[in-house]
Amino acid sequence: MQKIVFVCLGNICRSPLAEALFQNEIEKRGMTHLFELDSCGTNGLHNGERADARTRKNAIAHGIEVPSISRKITANDIQHFDLLLTMDDEVQSKVLNLCKTEEEKQKVVLFREFDPKSPGSEVPDPWYGGDEGFENVFQIVKENTEIWVNRLC
Ligand code: 4NP
Repeated sequence: MQKIVFVCLGNICRSPLAEALFQNEIEKRGMTHLFELDSCGTNGLHNGERADARTRKNAIAHGIEVPSISRKITANDIQHFDLLLTMDDEVQSKVLNLCKTEEEKQKVVLFREFDPKSPGSEVPDPWYGGDEGFENVFQIVKENTEIWVNRLC
C-alpha cells in the first residue's frame, strides 16, 4: 500500500483534481488496493469547501468527478504519507518547512518532477484566470498522473 497526498495552496483546484485523476487511473488499471490517496492545501483558506466549481465543471466535461473537501495540511500528514506531491515551488517549500528530518524531506517531490515536457516545473494556479487555464491544468495533471502511475506500479 503506497500512501500519496497531493498538495497545492487552497486544495480546491489543482490537488483535488490530481487526486481524482490518479484515482480514476488506478481504477482503470484495477490497482486501487495498492494506494491510499488524499489531497490537502497549505493555506487553509477554503477549509470544508468543495473543489472550485470551475475545476469540477471542466473535469466533468472529461467524465471525471472531483469529490474532495478542502483541508489544510498537518504535521501528521508528513509522517503518515510515503509521498507528498506538490504543485508549485511555494507549496514545495512550505511542505519542506514542516519536515523535521532529512528522511521526511525526501518524501516531498514536485508533481511535475518527471514531466518530459518541462521537468520540475510548476502546475500553474488557474484560480485567477479564465476557463482555458482550467483545461490547461487538466491536461498537465492528467499527463503527469499517468507518468506517476507508470512509475509507481
Ligand atoms: P489551488 O488554487 O491551490 O490549486 O487550490 C487556489 C485556490 C484558492 C486560492 C489560491 C490557490 N486562494 O488563495 O484562495
